[in-house]
Amino acid sequence: MNPQASLRVGNQLRSTLLLQDINMIEALSHLTHERIPERVVHAKGAGAYGEFEVTHDITSFTSAAFLNTVGKKTRLFTRFSTVAGEKGSADSVRDGRGFAFKFYTEEGNLDWLFFNLPAFFIRDPVKLPDLVHAQKRNPQTNLKDASSPFHSFFNSNTEGFNSLMTLFSDAATPVSYRYTNIFGINTYKFTKEASQDGSFHYVKIHLKTNQGVANLTLAEAIKLSGEDPDSATRDLFDSIANGTFPSWTVYAQIIDPEAAQNYTTNIFDATKTISETDFPLIPFGKITLNENPVNFFAEVEQSAFSPTNIVPGWSVSPDPILQARLFAYGDTQRYRLGVNFNQLPVNRANYYYNPSRRDGANNIMNYGAIPNYIPSSFGPKIVPAPQYLQLASHEEWAGTVTEFQSVVTAADFVQPRAAWQALGLVPGQQENFVGNVAASLSGAVSQVRQQTYAIFSQIDGGLGGLIQSATEALVSAM
Ligand code: HEM
Repeated sequence: MNPQASLRVGNQLRSTLLLQDINMIEALSHLTHERIPERVVHAKGAGAYGEFEVTHDITSFTSAAFLNTVGKKTRLFTRFSTVAGEKGSADSVRDGRGFAFKFYTEEGNLDWLFFNLPAFFIRDPVKLPDLVHAQKRNPQTNLKDASSPFHSFFNSNTEGFNSLMTLFSDAATPVSYRYTNIFGINTYKFTKEASQDGSFHYVKIHLKTNQGVANLTLAEAIKLSGEDPDSATRDLFDSIANGTFPSWTVYAQIIDPEAAQNYTTNIFDATKTISETDFPLIPFGKITLNENPVNFFAEVEQSAFSPTNIVPGWSVSPDPILQARLFAYGDTQRYRLGVNFNQLPVNRANYYYNPSRRDGANNIMNYGAIPNYIPSSFGPKIVPAPQYLQLASHEEWAGTVTEFQSVVTAADFVQPRAAWQALGLVPGQQENFVGNVAASLSGAVSQVRQQTYAIFSQIDGGLGGLIQSATEALVSAM
């Protein structure tokens, strides 16, 4: 049948058509079901394939097979994103940038989900929904008037000011994804097998761009979001297509468990960074992106990253933000993509076998006649994956259940103060910071603005006044 024709009574232009036109009904029906939910955060993104290469020996800290030989290469997929905007939002807006990596290792998938900001906004994960909502559209008007909600959220949760110091610097408007450094933020663990010495070290991962850091000013970012809202998506695709492969050098910041115990900074507080003087960055790898996806929906939109995807030699830490993340990603992906999202080609590990988890919507591989329960005398013997055994053996916790919310102390302003001073080392950066805050804060109501000035004054005596002058000048000009 001609796919563009419909079944009509009497074959005339003015005649009605028949519901029995199966081709037309299925064509329309497929269209009306084509959308899947966009990610609740990080909705706008771009993806690419590439490789990780081990450049330095790191085997004294980890037994991960993909890290066991200098020169060894592992294929990976990555998705880069903005955080707060919707799927159609502009790439050059002031925001964090998310960097998700999926390493297809010989021992299973390892996922890294990182940011281009060195510290996170909160340290009590129950606040995450409010942090997200404070940046989304007004529930009544559906307008993007988040200035008051955004600043009032942070005025009540001042532990976030350390990351605001980066968010309002020009680092939060990178030229594109290629020109920014990347931070793991959360603390993880490098572990060694029991057959070696069974030891573990805490580790924070840092990636430094080999393209050099390049940022936009506020004016440039606003102009670009009007002229080419997909600028970073385009830049990533074009640079790979024309053979200018973006790359990053990968570093480990290793922290001995005993040193962590007595260290001034809590290494499980995601709002803090750890001194690179006390714990230097050790290079061990290089990530190069060298292949564009061929189908955006199947590979980029349906990709699903999670910190629960771990391999032997890599593990999670007690960091409360990380612990909460261990729940959130699989949970949202079961809703966003369906319970069998791990069977989709972009998400499937090189080796994937669990015949207890098989049915459900959109099942792709269902293990044939293999028994659907374990242990079974009729199917292959299943042994627990070593990475989960390591999880259990490395920490022991005991104590009384308490209701706990962290409080902000003067110590929380030490790193923001250092960040303000560091901006002063590069001509024009402190001025840009003040202007960037003012542009954002001038949209907030007076009460919120006054609170924000007072908090910046706690960070640095003169900073609150500088921001107040710049912001109130903009308010007067409105
Ligand atoms: C309590 C804290 C957090 C929660 C509950 C949370 C939750 C989420 C959720 C629900 C998504 C959408 C995932 C999807 O639809 O597939 C997401 C995406 C993402 N998150 Fe988080 N997040 C948290 C903190 C962080 C932190 C600290 C980082 C960085 C260090 C981070 C990095 C990312 C990245 C890179 C993505 C995008 C993944 C992709 O491209 O598919 N998140 N997060």
